[in-house]
Amino acid sequence: MGDQIENVLHETRSFPPSAEFRADARIKTDAVYERMLRESLDNPESFWGRVAREIPWMKPFERVLDWSKAPFAQWFVGGKLNASVVCVDQHVNSVRSGKRAIIFEGEPGDRRTLTYTELQLEVCRFANALKARGIKRGDRVAIYMPMIPEVVVAMLACARIGAAHSVVFGGFSAVALRDRIKDGGCTAVVTADGSFRRGAVLALKPQVDEALTECPDVHAVFVVQRAKNQISWLARRDVWWHEACAVAPSECAPEAMDSEDLLFLLYTSGSTGKPKGIVHTTGGYLVGTYLSTQMVFDLRDEDVYWCTADVGWITGHSYVVYGPLANGATVMLYEGAPNTPHAGRFWELIERHRINIFYTAPTAIRSFMRWGDEHVTKYDLSSLRLLGSVGEPINPEAWIWYRKMIGKELCPIVDTWWQTETGSIMITPLPGVTTTKPGSATRPFFGVDAAIVDEQGVELGPNEGGFLVIRKPWPSMLRGIWGDSERYIETYWKKFGGRFYFAGDGARRDEHGCFWIVGRIDDVIKVSGHRFSSMEVESALVSHESIVEAAVVARPDELTGQAICAFVTLGPGKSPSPELRASIDAHVVKEIGKVARPAEVRFSEALPKTRSGKIMRRLLRDIAAGVETVGDTSTLDDYSVLAKLRQHEE
Ligand code: WTA
Repeated sequence: MGDQIENVLHETRSFPPSAEFRADARIKTDAVYERMLRESLDNPESFWGRVAREIPWMKPFERVLDWSKAPFAQWFVGGKLNASVVCVDQHVNSVRSGKRAIIFEGEPGDRRTLTYTELQLEVCRFANALKARGIKRGDRVAIYMPMIPEVVVAMLACARIGAAHSVVFGGFSAVALRDRIKDGGCTAVVTADGSFRRGAVLALKPQVDEALTECPDVHAVFVVQRAKNQISWLARRDVWWHEACAVAPSECAPEAMDSEDLLFLLYTSGSTGKPKGIVHTTGGYLVGTYLSTQMVFDLRDEDVYWCTADVGWITGHSYVVYGPLANGATVMLYEGAPNTPHAGRFWELIERHRINIFYTAPTAIRSFMRWGDEHVTKYDLSSLRLLGSVGEPINPEAWIWYRKMIGKELCPIVDTWWQTETGSIMITPLPGVTTTKPGSATRPFFGVDAAIVDEQGVELGPNEGGFLVIRKPWPSMLRGIWGDSERYIETYWKKFGGRFYFAGDGARRDEHGCFWIVGRIDDVIKVSGHRFSSMEVESALVSHESIVEAAVVARPDELTGQAICAFVTLGPGKSPSPELRASIDAHVVKEIGKVARPAEVRFSEALPKTRSGKIMRRLLRDIAAGVETVGDTSTLDDYSVLAKLRQHEE
């Protein structure tokens, strides 16, 4: 952490918005920005009440915020609405009815567009198909799908009938899917036969079949025919999407949902081994994603907008689906990998579809840099107006490359900090007014009372590194952890006595009020922006027959930001070998998914522990990163362990 702070401390370049961009921006003067910011912080109820009235309600809310049961917030109390009406119907009933909602391109190059009117039809049909299989208001539906239009339709169809969705990233294994289905109490699954990924077919249905051998409550599986790969079929449970929709009525009245009714669960990793189901409700989440999409991306009606995140993550929920559609935007959806069939695939898509707004992750940007500028310069990127970054700290070098090579020094870059838990963007430039600095997410968004505090919760001065906290509730905040209120309080609120939301990130604020996020201070690891906990990977490792003990830490990685480094101790009679390494990898892939495969496995006879038996991860982190241990090692039980571990590096 110290090193990274050092690095960004030396970053002094800054980029004010250009006069051209400012002239047409939604917020173009500091005075307007300051006025809105002040109102959002000093008088949040009037600020958010006004924003909330811009989306359609079926019954108006009576109160903007009820914080009396803190830390369980209630926003827009008494109001009723339906997310599919906010994202679809309101536009169908407007001049946007024939506007493109979704532009889709598959990895093999197949293309499809859906206007808002067409999207409404698909949503209603699938909503009726869900109902025909007995799925109803209050149920939970797991979605395990590729990036195809049907995934958006499935999410909105759930919302339409008042069922919550729980989207599970398609890169997770059957075991991970099973755990999430069970924890969320899902009774139906929506999937596809397979998907096109990196020139091959990635099968999905077989993972669902395997997961469901232990999920007796799931009585319906809807399958989109996408890759036409061979799959097995359980007639009483499985149903083809196209067959179910063909016989479904094309109209479906939306359920009037309470503002605080569950919209979705999304599982994410924390400090412990068990992923937690983050709870997001309807009204506040929609208001938060609606406003942030509009302001942060400076969205205009004629824009074509592309966020490259998978819907399996929060960025896909908030900035592929709900935020952009609530604004009536045209959203690009791409199924495949960025380098299939060639390394210029994204730029080709930007040229072809005249993309104006492009939002991606630092890991992707670093890959593009590595693949070479020639793949970029071949294409006409002049449609681009604004660039965004999310998911992990962006190193200044990548930021500058992004600005020069993709943005041609004309597009502002919004580096947006937020989390699955926050639901929407929390710290970010506003492109018409904020002077950006490579590596800084700059300033808190409207209504976000962010601060840097020390262990005691005392606010720190400029450039002092500490804990990032949020001191006031915000509309799109998580409402809890599914089935575990205690853990919600314990994880996010206990550290500072219930006064602040504790994000788990370390950060500093510079003398101009800009935030520099350093990264997690807990055991959360971010690999290519995907979130894992050390313990979750450790428990996968120790369930391998040859491993008796494991410790997992993050080490810095030039491409993926962080990489998973595992230290393992083998059982008696077992010894390291390439075969063993391969079987360990395969085991982690089976338990969690390919995304969690360790970059490095180090075999060691023992792990460094304190006298009370706690593994000293700090030491392992230093060893993994190949740096000298500078911290206190006086609690280390057996010094020879450390020496041996270092020897193994040779
Ligand atoms: C990290 C992703 C630095 C951070 C939306 C946070 C970032 C975690 C940034 C949440 C950023 C996200 N700069 N770090 N712009 N954006 N992070 O839940 O550590 O997948 O706590 O949500 O990602 O990850 P999650």
